[in-house]
Amino acid sequence: MLKVSGLKVAYGAVEAVRGVDLDVEQGELVALLGANGAGKSSTLNALVGLSPLKAGRIEFLSEDIAKLPTEVLVRRGITLSPEGRRIFASLSVAENLRLGAYGRAERDQLDEAYDQVFALFPILKERETQLAGTLSGGQQQMLAIGRALMIGPKLLLLDEPSLGLAPQIVETIFELISALRDRGITILMVEQNVAMSLDIVDRGYVMAGGEIVAAGSAQELKASNVVENAYLGTG
Ligand SMILES: Nc1ncnc2c1ncn2[C@@H]1O[C@H](COP(=O)(O)OP(=O)(O)O)[C@@H](O)[C@H]1O
Ligand SMILES: [Mg+2]
Repeated sequence: MLKVSGLKVAYGAVEAVRGVDLDVEQGELVALLGANGAGKSSTLNALVGLSPLKAGRIEFLSEDIAKLPTEVLVRRGITLSPEGRRIFASLSVAENLRLGAYGRAERDQLDEAYDQVFALFPILKERETQLAGTLSGGQQQMLAIGRALMIGPKLLLLDEPSLGLAPQIVETIFELISALRDRGITILMVEQNVAMSLDIVDRGYVMAGGEIVAAGSAQELKASNVVENAYLGTG
């Protein structure tokens, strides 16, 4: 479904991503792991035209999408739930979700999108009219994911869904992510929480210093010490 090769991202003189190759098959849940500053967000953002692409090829469903603007990519079925959630605290839950619907302006389509998200996250239905800023951290993360689901994506990109959440809440969020994959949504998830990620993903890539330093099945990565080394800066 997604095939990335030779991806480079640079912020002026700072080369944040130095030639990344990765792919995601239809129906997979894949993790992109690595320490803070490894280049994970830059990679994920580049896939949807939100970080400065210096080089590389990005194929989505066999088409080159590297130069396409974000809103076109959304219409083609790729959405990103960004790091730090980026929800609008002073808007209601329903209004936040609506922002994720982009071109789905027709009322019945919008209603269908709401219904699908509320079926996945019943708590958001209960809080529909509440201001997003009054939600708990876990609920805000559900809202961020729900917003990305409003267009019915084929490929969902999640940037650090566990960030700032208590371990028990992380477990709930990861169970929900697992359930999304079981419903047929292909997912590429950026995470620093290695142990819990490897419990739910099919495969993973490990990044350090803007490069992929290891790749393998969840089992393989659990058994090896490359992940640990990447975090300690010796990978
Ligand atoms: N907008 C930006 N401008 C300049 N440098 C940036 C910007 N965003 C990220 N970087 C730098 O790029 C590198 C990788 O960052 P990032 O992709 O956010 O890593 P990660 O998501 O793995 O923590 C870091 O050195 C970071 O400081
Ligand atoms: Mg990041």
